[in-house]
Amino acid sequence: MLVLGIETSCDETAVALYDSSKGLLAHQLYSQVDEHAAYGGVVPEIASRDHLRKLLPLVREVLATAGVQRAAIGGIAYTAGPGLIGALLVGAAVARSLAWAWGVPAVAVHHMEGHLLAPLLEPEPPEFPFVALLVSGGHTLLVEVRGIGSYHVLGESLDDAAGEAFDKTAKLLGLGYPGGPALARLAEKGRAERFHFPRPMTDRPGLDFSFSGLKTHALNVLAALPGTPQDKADIACAFQAAVVDTLVLKCRRALRETGLGRLVVAGGVSANQAMRKELHAMAESERCRVYFPRPEFCTDNGAMIAFAGCRRLLAGQFEPSVIEAKARWAM
Ligand code: KG4
Ligand code: ZN
Repeated sequence: MLVLGIETSCDETAVALYDSSKGLLAHQLYSQVDEHAAYGGVVPEIASRDHLRKLLPLVREVLATAGVQRAAIGGIAYTAGPGLIGALLVGAAVARSLAWAWGVPAVAVHHMEGHLLAPLLEPEPPEFPFVALLVSGGHTLLVEVRGIGSYHVLGESLDDAAGEAFDKTAKLLGLGYPGGPALARLAEKGRAERFHFPRPMTDRPGLDFSFSGLKTHALNVLAALPGTPQDKADIACAFQAAVVDTLVLKCRRALRETGLGRLVVAGGVSANQAMRKELHAMAESERCRVYFPRPEFCTDNGAMIAFAGCRRLLAGQFEPSVIEAKARWAM
């Protein structure tokens, strides 16, 4: 089955074509990051208008790149939430309209299910069951995954998501938007031993997270210093180490508690090299295997939505024709 995937939940317009027998045929992404950078964050109204401008041209481009006629398409998958409601509505309306015009089913995909399944697009995909750590700008989740649609949330952030904590801390260090990758680059110049940040909620049982205190801690440390470039690099380094240590500790705990031997890590923060290194080391010591998406599929993309939608369509797990868009949506 050939499925067109559409992602418009935030500030990336992304489209892809996934074939259940041939794999990923084409994918394109238009990032709005330059439009939002001047405002220091995503402006929902601008995001919606930009998706409207870019989405259909991207669909045409992907079909042309893959050399696919629209008659070959068997279904359309789109991100129905969670995300910015205006941005989601653009993708949902376009996807449902194309599906209606082409006489094919449309399937509403949960954005985090898309992230969760992204590592299955790689050459050596993990088999079910596995533990998934999902770390994005909006979510931090540990999930026990038994199969497509069988997701049991083991733990989640009680306040800021890991990516959100990166972005907010980057902002107070004057690093602009998007902050996560910029903070990670600055951390490379920092000295690890200068500051020690807390590892939130690691001193008690359980698999939930809390990251908002780390940003406040960074603010307090910075306020007591002149704020030289080296001060900021040292703070970035200590902050990143605290987030990474906390995530690694909870992943180890989740693997032990579930008795599973595979860990899948996805979402924007899974692009973080320091975290990848530490998770590999932990997995090795636990005799487990860890799986990541390729870097371009860590952050938002159309391929993960086309793939998740394809698996849902093949399993017969999709809703009849209603235009769905949900700003909040539990997994
Ligand atoms: O998955 P994603 O593209 O969008 C959401 O679904 O939220 O994740 C974006 C998040 C942002 O918070 C961004 O700062 C963070 O992922 N991020 C990173 C890195 N690359 C992206 N955080 C830390 N290190 C990185 N290398
Ligand atoms: Zn995302």
